[in-house]
Amino acid sequence: MANDYRTRTAGAPWGWDEAHKRLHVAIVGATGAVGLELAELLFAAGHPLSRLDCLARKYGKLELGNKQKLDVRPLESTQDAESFPGVDLAFLCTPTELSRVLGPALAEHGVRVIDLSSAHRMRPDVPLVVPEINGAELARGGRLFANPNCTTAIAAMPLAVVEREFGLAEVIVVSYQAASGAGLPGLQALAFEQKRDAGVAALGAEPKSPFAATLSNNVIPAIAEVDEHGVSGEEQKIVEELRKILGRPDLVVEATTARVPVERCHSVAVHVATKRDVDLRRLKDALARAPGIALDPDPHGPRPRECAGTDPVHVGRVRAGTRGPRSLCFFAVGDQIRKGAALNAFQVAAKLPVDR
Ligand SMILES: NC(=O)c1ccc[n+]([C@@H]2O[C@H](COP(=O)([O-])OP(=O)(O)OC[C@H]3O[C@@H](n4cnc5c(N)ncnc54)[C@H](OP(=O)(O)O)[C@@H]3O)[C@@H](O)[C@H]2O)c1
Repeated sequence: MANDYRTRTAGAPWGWDEAHKRLHVAIVGATGAVGLELAELLFAAGHPLSRLDCLARKYGKLELGNKQKLDVRPLESTQDAESFPGVDLAFLCTPTELSRVLGPALAEHGVRVIDLSSAHRMRPDVPLVVPEINGAELARGGRLFANPNCTTAIAAMPLAVVEREFGLAEVIVVSYQAASGAGLPGLQALAFEQKRDAGVAALGAEPKSPFAATLSNNVIPAIAEVDEHGVSGEEQKIVEELRKILGRPDLVVEATTARVPVERCHSVAVHVATKRDVDLRRLKDALARAPGIALDPDPHGPRPRECAGTDPVHVGRVRAGTRGPRSLCFFAVGDQIRKGAALNAFQVAAKLPVDR
């Protein structure tokens, strides 16, 4: 990445206190985009590295932004919870297929698990949590917790404020999603394509791209597989997960998801129909007060380049809709590796009860 976003630690320690620091924590998938960010957050929150276990497919070293090196050991078996001796809490920053097996295996073994994949999000018995919105779900107990889809988490933050103030009737979300939403392979593919477009010589072998087309200088108007009805997997997740997080199974949601050649931060243009008349001043006040949201007064903001590496969801372009007093529009940008993934998971962990 061009900038080292990992060194930004303004919100530390995110509620991580002395009792949390006594926990033995594992990050599975520590060498990926999300796992590495979680290691950075734990380090910035003062978690002792002697009580942090990093695992991935391959063994090696993980280098934090401050050049601190952590050992990474290979995951011996995708089902064997015995290979996590003494671990109290595990973050699974792993592909869905792996999380589907490993999450329940670890939970049955007594480990608290926060899974960042889509494997368990829609299970009725598994809380799907954005702490600022439905943190009370954590009191349901159990040992397996799901972290939402990155675009869903970013859109849900301001939508929860609109729901509270005026009631949501209908939501349309259009996303502009960064390359790193497809993990390190996405970033590597974009970097390679941009250098090739710029005429850089001696590029070496082209990395395998996770995208459906060349992303450099392009927009790809569907993310993940597209089903027989023309709906992409990402769009389905946004619809289903927004309903679950907002506690509104009846909510009308439409989504279009697009990949754009941005390194980091997902953006969403959101159009809303409300149940009650909208008072824009009251809405802006509520957004400005809401934890985890930064209201952006810039008429041409917020933008991913400036929001990368920050904690809040940045909300701007708040305006009336053209469908009468019960309609409004806004634009939101969030660092999807932080609030859309690692930071949200870390906030969930910090809210789980621990022995004191
Ligand atoms: N990127 C985002 O913005 C984002 C946002 C929200 C949620 N998520 C979800 O978070 C999870 C991680 O995403 P990511 O973007 O960090 O992906 P990534 O950069 O591709 O990293 C994947 C990690 O999983 C490890 N892994 C893969 N297969 C494994 C196996 N069989 N055994 C052990 N480790 C294995 C990889 O280890 P090796 O390097 O050794 O292969 C790597 O550490 C995914 O479920 C993704 O959908 C991502």
